[in-house]
Amino acid sequence: NSQQARVVAVDGPSGTGKSTVSKRLATQLGAAYLDTGAMYRAATLAALRAGLDLTNTDAVTTAVHHAKLDFGTTPADPYTRLDGAPVDAEIRGPEVTAAVSAVAGIPAVRAHLIAEQRRIIAEAPAGIVVEGRDIGEVVAPDADLKIYLTADEAERARRRSTENNTDITTTAADLARRDTADAKTTKPHEAAPGAVILDTTGLGIEEVVDRMRRLLNDSNGEV
Ligand code: DC
Repeated sequence: NSQQARVVAVDGPSGTGKSTVSKRLATQLGAAYLDTGAMYRAATLAALRAGLDLTNTDAVTTAVHHAKLDFGTTPADPYTRLDGAPVDAEIRGPEVTAAVSAVAGIPAVRAHLIAEQRRIIAEAPAGIVVEGRDIGEVVAPDADLKIYLTADEAERARRRSTENNTDITTTAADLARRDTADAKTTKPHEAAPGAVILDTTGLGIEEVVDRMRRLLNDSNGEV
């Protein structure tokens, strides 16, 4: 039935609350959840562990192809494993965060991970909420609902610094630096064609999730 096996694409820059609301929405829908940022982060960790120079795109691509990556898509307990071991904390640490834009910028790495993302989406029997930067435009252009989350810069920095327990000025500078780096490969500041823009500035998590559910209900029948 049309309530099931639906694909929701959630895009937007970091600090917009994407992961939190996407997980929450997936839980409420009984759907799977895929954090594509975690996939780029795990690929980056594989390259770092291999001691590679990240500008050597062929070597990084080979390392990513050979890495054994597993992604758990249950929204209550999503996990990322590299070579059989959990790496959830490590992929969100400073080393990976500083290096991820470089690895995510390698076209062959993107092609490999996008193919994997499409496979995971196709194999989600009860539907899936997929979050990232290029989901509505590249990974799942036929998604049933596309949402583009934004929030003003000050609020994004505030959220991230609370989340990571970091200084707000450093966090703001880091967000700006990553947005600029990411903009070379994806369009973190642009909504995909057909995406609904949802500005989360001043909104709580539940309010955002409620709006997403209403949008999904509104799109019912049109699919
Ligand atoms: O959402 P995040 O901070 O975990 O994403 C990590 C990095 O991966 C970010 O710098 C942008 C990149 N990314 C991407 O290029 N495409 C995606 N679909 C998701 C993330």
